[in-house]
Amino acid sequence: MKKIILFADTGIDDAIALIYALKNPEIDLIGVVSGYGNINREKTYRNVEYLLELAGRTDIPVIAGATRPLSGEEPVFFPEIHGIEGLGPIDPPIPEERYQNRTNFSKLFGLIKDNPNDLIIVNVGRCTSLAIAHYLSPEVMENVKETYLMGGAFLEPGNASEVAEANFFGDPIAADFICQHAVNLTIVPLNVTRDALLTPREVDLIDSRSDSPLEELIKPILDFYYEVYQQLEPGIPGAPLHDLAALMAALDISGLYSYSKREVRVEHEGNLTYGESIADFRARSSDCYGPNCTRIALGINQNVFVTNVFEILTN
Ligand code: BDR
Ligand code: CA
Repeated sequence: MKKIILFADTGIDDAIALIYALKNPEIDLIGVVSGYGNINREKTYRNVEYLLELAGRTDIPVIAGATRPLSGEEPVFFPEIHGIEGLGPIDPPIPEERYQNRTNFSKLFGLIKDNPNDLIIVNVGRCTSLAIAHYLSPEVMENVKETYLMGGAFLEPGNASEVAEANFFGDPIAADFICQHAVNLTIVPLNVTRDALLTPREVDLIDSRSDSPLEELIKPILDFYYEVYQQLEPGIPGAPLHDLAALMAALDISGLYSYSKREVRVEHEGNLTYGESIADFRARSSDCYGPNCTRIALGINQNVFVTNVFEILTN
């Protein structure tokens, strides 16, 4: 069983990753760090509380993460992609007091200290909260066993700009810091998660097997997300589940991914290249092995992906 802390900006694909984590018997979800990103921190926090409540798992701590990038600039949110509240058509009925009484970072450090070298961090939003955790307490963060990021785009276009993926674009200073300092780092980039698709037919099949309030949320939010993607990328056969794809990398599912190891940097000074992820994939370069080497997913097996997602979400 893998002990996982999810850093998320919940968000539709974050929500599907969270639902999957709650339903997968191989995952022991020991906390969620909820920061700004797709929407503001208050909304992401309420969304996580809502999903945990529907799952009957309010024992899992939700820790309030960052509210803006390390540059200090105002964050840009994406209600047109994730809905006004971040869950498509859903407005989670979570009272405001819950956010007022939110849990802070000391809880995160306590969870890591209680599980030395046994904890995996999966970051599927901006890297700000994770970078702050490393800045605040590098000695505690050394106890993290592995880190996974959904972010970046290698050798293909971005989504937030021509060259940059949204999580890295949203805070490239934090993303660059994590690429240089997180131990045992794996990145599952946009050029791979773009292929982590669920078609409307597959979503309908999952829905036909839903028998809990948590599972019944899957179809309305993914239908919303699919419609959005039809506008963004007309003809795309399904909705890309970026964050779920990154979470699944932590599970060693046989045949799901192929990888390469490279040093990764994230541009945070250039105007035209702001947020671009850079690794050396020239023909003459090969896998590296130093402490700054990051495992980068190169491709996903769609059959393995869909089969596993179906199995977990309908069990
Ligand atoms: C990433 O950006 C966010 O919009 C999604 O939740 C995902 O984490 C995809 O680029
Ligand atoms: Ca996300």
